[in-house]
Amino acid sequence: MKIVVIGGTGLIGSKLVEKLKAHGHEAVPAAPHTGVNTLTGEGLAEVLRDATVVVDVSNSPSFADDAVMEFFRTSTTNLLKAASEAGVTHHVALSVVGTERLQESGYFRAKRVQEELIKESGMPYSIVHATQFFEFMKGIADLSTEGTPSVSPR
Ligand SMILES: NC(=O)c1ccc[n+]([C@@H]2O[C@H](COP(=O)([O-])OP(=O)(O)OC[C@H]3O[C@@H](n4cnc5c(N)ncnc54)[C@H](OP(=O)(O)O)[C@@H]3O)[C@@H](O)[C@H]2O)c1
Repeated sequence: MKIVVIGGTGLIGSKLVEKLKAHGHEAVPAAPHTGVNTLTGEGLAEVLRDATVVVDVSNSPSFADDAVMEFFRTSTTNLLKAASEAGVTHHVALSVVGTERLQESGYFRAKRVQEELIKESGMPYSIVHATQFFEFMKGIADLSTEGTPSVSPR
């Protein structure tokens, strides 16, 4: 099965592409580095040709409130439209546990918009909610401005 992985060069995407290939699928990474840009639409129609499933594990290059909202709103809208036109039959997206309860954060407001656009699209979908990954720990610690970050023992 041809599965297009949007963000297939990223932290999650590159591992996902490897695993899908190991299961015998034609997994195609799609990202600006491979000539596909969901914000501008560049390369989308071409990469989606003959695809059955799209997995969206892309992320905004900027986490500033306006930029991240623009990223998830525009890229999700473009992707859903192009996938529908290409005859894709399932849309999978990776989101974060608690997105709907963290709406004071611009990032999570944008992830919620992404989820709503998918739910309203009419395309069969799976939205996977994951907790943040171990690799994210350094970034979280770096964001701590005072003292030593503490980690709960449980
Ligand atoms: N990391 C976590 O802890 C975690 C936990 C739960 C959920 N998630 C979700 O998982 C997703 C991926 O996170 P990640 O940490 O793997 O991200 P990441 O390592 O930053 O990778 C981002 C990917 O998005 C691509 N991208 C950026 N702009 C794009 C555009 N305009 N068009 C198409 N692709 C574009 C990048 O391509 P280039 O390489 O070409 O720049 C890269 O492949 C996010 O939606 C995030 O909310 C992450």
